[in-house]
Amino acid sequence: MAEQSLTKNILKKGIFGIVLGVVLFLAAEYVPPMFGEHGFPLVFKVMFFMYALLGAIVFILLDAPSMKRLEGVKAIIGLLLFYVIISGMYIGGASSFPQYDPEIEKGKIEKILKRRRAMTEQGKAEELIARAKVLNERAMAITKRLDTLGVGAQVEVAKVDSSPAAASGDLVALGREQWDLQECYNCHKLFGLGGKKRGPILDNIGNLMTPEQLREKILDPKSWKAEGFDKQYKKGKMPDKYKDLMFDEEIDALVAFLASLKDTSVNTPKPIKMK
Ligand code: HEC
Repeated sequence: MAEQSLTKNILKKGIFGIVLGVVLFLAAEYVPPMFGEHGFPLVFKVMFFMYALLGAIVFILLDAPSMKRLEGVKAIIGLLLFYVIISGMYIGGASSFPQYDPEIEKGKIEKILKRRRAMTEQGKAEELIARAKVLNERAMAITKRLDTLGVGAQVEVAKVDSSPAAASGDLVALGREQWDLQECYNCHKLFGLGGKKRGPILDNIGNLMTPEQLREKILDPKSWKAEGFDKQYKKGKMPDKYKDLMFDEEIDALVAFLASLKDTSVNTPKPIKMK
């Protein structure tokens, strides 16, 4: 008798839990777009579904017939077993979800800030270099005079290297770094990685836009529209912030990187000039 009602209990609440889970899952996918937002990521939808199941399990347990009372060693073993199972579920469950490493995120921010700090430092450095150059010239003039005076002194004058270190770097590689740091991958799929839902795939953009046009698009996202992305274009989904966030050389590098993307096997939407 008790067993039969337990089966009924599990069936009723289990089915309710699954139905509720599916409803939540679908709602998370389709309700936000009604308000012009993106649907929830898959991880969240799965989580909503699992919460509904968890709720059903709790209600099943509430109505379940009580167990026989355990005593002594049996009770301790039972308790330990329960602990092991629950811990296993938590650890297994948690590690099966994607993990965000705060150290990696911190590293990204640090990389962006480092460039900016270096730029302010560079202001000071440039002044020092200018002064060093003047001193250099004076030293050379003195050496010359010593020479003409026949002293024949060999005065070695240190050369000042005024070229910024970055100029020697590989522009395309620096641009790829900008792609990551500015998180373009959140909306654009590239090399098979990144969000493909919001913005166009860009693997072949180097064949469709000139570097000058790419620069325009980054500085003013309204200047170009990807074919078939009318809704996103109208809503201004592509952020209009890079002109404030990025230095000229960072944009140069990013443009060089984008211009190098010429994979004709990937169907990149055609850009249309808007202004
Ligand atoms: C929040 C989402 C989002 C981010 C972040 C984003 N974009 Fe976009 N981007 C879009 C959308 C949506 C479109 C298509 C509509 C349009 O053209 O405005 C687009 C279009 C483009 C196009 C034109 C593509 C074509 O085929 O015509 C280029 C190039 C581009 N983005 C480059 C970038 C670069 C470079 C970055 C990073 C600095 C970036 N985007 C960041 C959403 C984004």
